[in-house]
Amino acid sequence: MCGIVGYVGKQDAWPIIYEGLKRLEYRGYDSAGIAIVDAQGDIQVRKTVGKVSGLDEAATTGHPQGSVGLGHTRWATHGRPSHDNAHPHIDCQQRIAVVHNGIVENYLELKQWLTGAGHVFYSETDTEVLTHLVEEGMEQGLSFQDAFRSMGGMVKGSQAISAVLQGEDSEICALRLGHAGGIVVAQADGQAIIGSDLPALLPLLQAESNTGQVGFLETGEMVVVTLDGVEYQDLDGNPIVKQPRLVTQEEVLVDKGGYQHFMLKEIMEQPQAVASAMRERINFDTRRVDLPDFPLSTEEIAKLDRVMLIGCGTSLNAAQVGRHLVERYSGLPAEAESASEFRYRDPFIGPNTLVVSIGQSGETADTVAAMQMVKDKGGKLITICNSEGSQASRIADGSFYMRSGIEIGVASTKTFVASLTILNLLAIYLGQSRGTLEPAKFQELVDGLAQLPRLMGELIADSSVYQQMAQEYATFDNFLFLGRGMNSPIASEGALKLKEISYIHAEGYPAGEMKHGPIALIDSAMAIVALAPKDTLYDKVANNIREVKARDGRVLAVLTEGDTQLAADVDHVLYIPEAPEHIIPLLTTVPLQMLAYHIALLRDRDVDQPRNLAKSVTVE
Ligand code: F6R
Repeated sequence: MCGIVGYVGKQDAWPIIYEGLKRLEYRGYDSAGIAIVDAQGDIQVRKTVGKVSGLDEAATTGHPQGSVGLGHTRWATHGRPSHDNAHPHIDCQQRIAVVHNGIVENYLELKQWLTGAGHVFYSETDTEVLTHLVEEGMEQGLSFQDAFRSMGGMVKGSQAISAVLQGEDSEICALRLGHAGGIVVAQADGQAIIGSDLPALLPLLQAESNTGQVGFLETGEMVVVTLDGVEYQDLDGNPIVKQPRLVTQEEVLVDKGGYQHFMLKEIMEQPQAVASAMRERINFDTRRVDLPDFPLSTEEIAKLDRVMLIGCGTSLNAAQVGRHLVERYSGLPAEAESASEFRYRDPFIGPNTLVVSIGQSGETADTVAAMQMVKDKGGKLITICNSEGSQASRIADGSFYMRSGIEIGVASTKTFVASLTILNLLAIYLGQSRGTLEPAKFQELVDGLAQLPRLMGELIADSSVYQQMAQEYATFDNFLFLGRGMNSPIASEGALKLKEISYIHAEGYPAGEMKHGPIALIDSAMAIVALAPKDTLYDKVANNIREVKARDGRVLAVLTEGDTQLAADVDHVLYIPEAPEHIIPLLTTVPLQMLAYHIALLRDRDVDQPRNLAKSVTVE
């Protein structure tokens, strides 16, 4: 969701905050603002509706000068994107500016109380109550820090909040409540930056290596940043000794590497992403999956009676593929469900239930809340996620990191295939440990996985086929993506990618279900993308495709190389290389990502930052 950047130091704060906001724009980009404490100690605020770059125009007469400031890039929850609703929000006397990521659940109640006390509101946001609460505290005689802390004790919900105070000895306070919003802090050479995420800290990381020591706020913690340094406290004001963590270049660097979009760069990185996901998790001598960090003993694995896989969006699609893999190789009953549904239905979780959460960010509010519920009910919990130190990794008994490097494109790509790779490893590992997979079988599966980087590389070697197919299909306004078995969730993923970045209506559907309703939609104006690789369900999908063709549907089929027979019955074909069944879903994903990307380009869409979306959804 929203991105926060704050700076205290001796340099001109505006460009540092502005660049930091641009690097956090993947978190939200419907409006932005910066508050600077100027040389007179006054707070100067500039805002824009739309992306951070709009702040250039807001500062045409020169940006406010000062070496302390706070900025924000917004993903709207309460109040539409507008100048008034953009953060920072300032109090009636213009002494305090506040930025916020998350939701103040009791804001109506607080607003009513503050209005009664004489505070005048100008925005529709929940955030503005925070500003007035700090102001109210100061009017009651509290110091800025104490008023900020007291505000933290009054609000309900999961969030990160930061505020800056006017004056020559200005200071910034930030706190974290619940799981929704992270705050990271770096300091060096008498300056400090706070941010929602690591890329904001780039100016203070070592120039040659882009590594540095970073403090991560835990829930219920606060940080006070002044020119004298950084102080961590709990919400009672007691100092906390925080062990900073060394972050690596990979976690911090954000660079398109010569590609037109992050999304394309990230698609192209998929051969490395699958290789990194397997690194040190496969013993290629014994041809076994080796997960020394698996948090359950062999005895505990033997006692498992059920596996539940949860996630949201793309990660839910990964969970659906994972369900097939786990059931097939471990012999355990497996189910997959969206975390947003799962968390509200009081599911049965016993001591022998293994829950696997999947998430790129590890910060998705619904996924984190569902994980907490599993933990409270005593289930076994592991997470597959990309962000080290994320909420998900802190709650889980064990974490399997994707190691994909930072993913900036709002539409997930490389982290999806990394999830599928790890789900394969997990399913094989459970099968090995439970004895449901014979050595010959797990060795064959491992050999299949070893081919993945090469086969994915073959798929992305030539973009021209995807560009050509995008030309054929870019004018269609409706798409049906069909697949069966493990390719049914891949059909959903293909539809999700297309709708997210091109704004075309697209549905993913199990091909066998089509005749029970959706077939009524088929005519020459409906584009069908059918996944029919050579796997055990091939003949079934081939029949479904023929049912579509009999009704004038236009079919683009994803087939296995050499399949000339079915190719003759459809309108267009994209090929994947021949591959063993368990890795086919990773391969069928790639043409769908490329198709969505090139159609979005032809429709002149904002591929990396599609409207209304944000990279990590830290609100319900
Ligand atoms: C789609 C997409 C979203 C995310 C979803 C969950 O391309 O990126 O659907 O998959 O918001 O996010 P994570 O995986 O961070 O939990």
